Amino acid sequence: MSTELKWTKTDQLKPKPDETSLPFGRIFTDYMLKVTYDEGQGWSEPHILPYGPIELDPAAMVLHYGQTVFEGLKAYRTTDGHVQLFRPDENMKRMNRSHRRMSIPEFDEDRMLKALIELVNIEKDWVPSHEGTSLYIRPFVISTEANLAVHPSKSYEYYIILSPVGSYYPEGINPVKIQVEDEFTRAVKGGTGTAKTGGNYSAGYNAQEKASKSGHAQVLWLDAIEKQYIEEVGSMNVLFKIDGEIVTPALSGSILEGVTRKSILELLHSWDIPVLERKISIRELIQAQKDGTLEEAFGAGTAAVVSPIGSFTYKGESYQVQSGETGELTKKLYETITGIQTGKIEDPFDWTIKL
Ligand code: COI
Repeated sequence: MSTELKWTKTDQLKPKPDETSLPFGRIFTDYMLKVTYDEGQGWSEPHILPYGPIELDPAAMVLHYGQTVFEGLKAYRTTDGHVQLFRPDENMKRMNRSHRRMSIPEFDEDRMLKALIELVNIEKDWVPSHEGTSLYIRPFVISTEANLAVHPSKSYEYYIILSPVGSYYPEGINPVKIQVEDEFTRAVKGGTGTAKTGGNYSAGYNAQEKASKSGHAQVLWLDAIEKQYIEEVGSMNVLFKIDGEIVTPALSGSILEGVTRKSILELLHSWDIPVLERKISIRELIQAQKDGTLEEAFGAGTAAVVSPIGSFTYKGESYQVQSGETGELTKKLYETITGIQTGKIEDPFDWTIKL
């Protein structure tokens, strides 16, 4: 334990859950981490304290104007019983990028990563080992100044909470039906789409509800201006295999820079599989499906890792992706990434940090 880190202990430890039936994000560990920010003083020393409710002034700015940022990453139990993190430095960097977009003061990424590691170390026994499980790590920051004026807060609270989780989507690695959304938009260039901020996610609820009602698991988002170019799927980045090449929307200013997306692209480069980061229109996708060159389609994100798309519906017409089964490359990517995360496969990229 570092000397700077304060730890308030509790003897009221919770029983550990059944690892074979873990939900996503509903069970929390014994401790959380808190860091505060006050104008003129900067970010405080980290404090680990028992997990529990947060007290907020009803005028706290986050409750009114949504000035908030979050991250999501995981700790894995390796096959030899260790605990490791997957590219946590990428999450810390992205969090600071989100802070900049949301006018939240930046923090020292190394210091925050050290504090995160200390918390996970304390809660190591909560990292499950059952196939497909992990400890989800949710850092988040909220604006706390009690003030109804519309401007950046002068005070913030940063927390990390931990949740032992099973798979995010009930379908797991099985293909899902998706609905191409042509009414609502997730984000627009110049907006907050590249930041991991709460409002981006709640703004997608109505389209998600609409898709669920028509039997679709997720929404495929199109660009806000022309409603032509594909952006993301659900809360994930999206990739297609067309005629032997991987095509994924370029990070054009409205798309989240996913850590799983980045890892997949690096893996594909190492396998000499051509990757194109460019605009891809829904028309091009439909044409490729008709020509038989649309070989695979999948979402990529921290929560699900990889989520295959079995079919997509656009303006009432449904299009199946090949046989509707999980593609070979999708499977290989899933197995390689989860293999590296859980130590089953050697990590040639230095992506993992062993605790
Ligand atoms: C992810 O899969 O990376 C996500 O952002 C999902 C999370 C919001 C639960």
